[in-house]
Amino acid sequence: MSVKKIAVLTSGGDAPGMNACIRAVYLAARNEGIDVIGFQHGYNGLLKRDYVEFAHKDIRNLIQRGGTVLYSARCEKFHKEEHRKKAASYLEELELDGLIVIGGNGSFKGAELLQQIWNKPVIGVPGTIDNDIAGTDYTIGYHTAIQTAVESIDKVRDTADAFERIFIVDVMGRDAGFIALNSAIAAGADHVVLPETFESAGDELVRILDKLDQRRKNHANSSHIIVITENLWPGGLNILCDSLQSETGVETRILTLGHVQRGGSPVWQDRILATKLGAYAVEMVMNNERGRMAGIRHRYPESVPLENSREDRKPLNHYSMSMLDKITLLG
Ligand code: F6P
Repeated sequence: MSVKKIAVLTSGGDAPGMNACIRAVYLAARNEGIDVIGFQHGYNGLLKRDYVEFAHKDIRNLIQRGGTVLYSARCEKFHKEEHRKKAASYLEELELDGLIVIGGNGSFKGAELLQQIWNKPVIGVPGTIDNDIAGTDYTIGYHTAIQTAVESIDKVRDTADAFERIFIVDVMGRDAGFIALNSAIAAGADHVVLPETFESAGDELVRILDKLDQRRKNHANSSHIIVITENLWPGGLNILCDSLQSETGVETRILTLGHVQRGGSPVWQDRILATKLGAYAVEMVMNNERGRMAGIRHRYPESVPLENSREDRKPLNHYSMSMLDKITLLG
């Protein structure tokens, strides 16, 4: 198949490294003499024919920038078939030979449905801080989000130590514990609460109090850092905070990291991942692959059916899980 013009868009939660991926798509495509346009604001830009024609000047100084120059959005309209049909006919009118969608699970669902009605390659590139996409070891933005969380936990530990307080650090991840688990390990937190292992608030509270007791046996300082995945604690973190304070008598505070985890300059792991996957996605279009994702396995790109990207819950690293108790108790 002769490919002359392709489009790229970023959709869903923005992630550091999306710009590096756009840059790689452009450079890899231009190297093959292929023109690249970018739809703005995710699928909304596709529906409104709101796009930019990329030129070399647009991708200069881009690899290190957070956010996405194409803007991002979640597109309600794309859930409806009539709008997807419109999108497919615009893609035809614009004489496009392929579409690359950089985004997460929701964006891939849209890509899969679009592929069913458009007869040219639609390729997904996993871009989300949550790392919750099956079929790929990592997603673009995940490493930077961990780095941001680790730096924040390191800082809050200073004040936790000074005041001998308990801090509950709420990190993103949607329904997945990747950011929580790895930021907790890297920052040497005392306890981590993960959606993958959480059973009930009662059981978890017992576990946290147990850890606190054990830590106090080893350390005079009663400061304690608990990392928890967002939206996990039934009724919200104030409930956990109050319980800890009344059970221990130790002042307890909540730190919600929130959207700062989505921002900032991508760390090298995300830049390289984004560059590999962007270039590989262009190859996939040229190979006329349909409805697939550019994933990464053991540092090499791999073509994966889009539907496999939303298989059952992607597992956390078993070894990291098994060593958690051993390493957190040493504090
Ligand atoms: O998927 C990325 C993510 O940042 C999740 O970690 C988080 O749950 C969600 O998006 C937040 O979405 P919004 O930006 O719409 O508040």
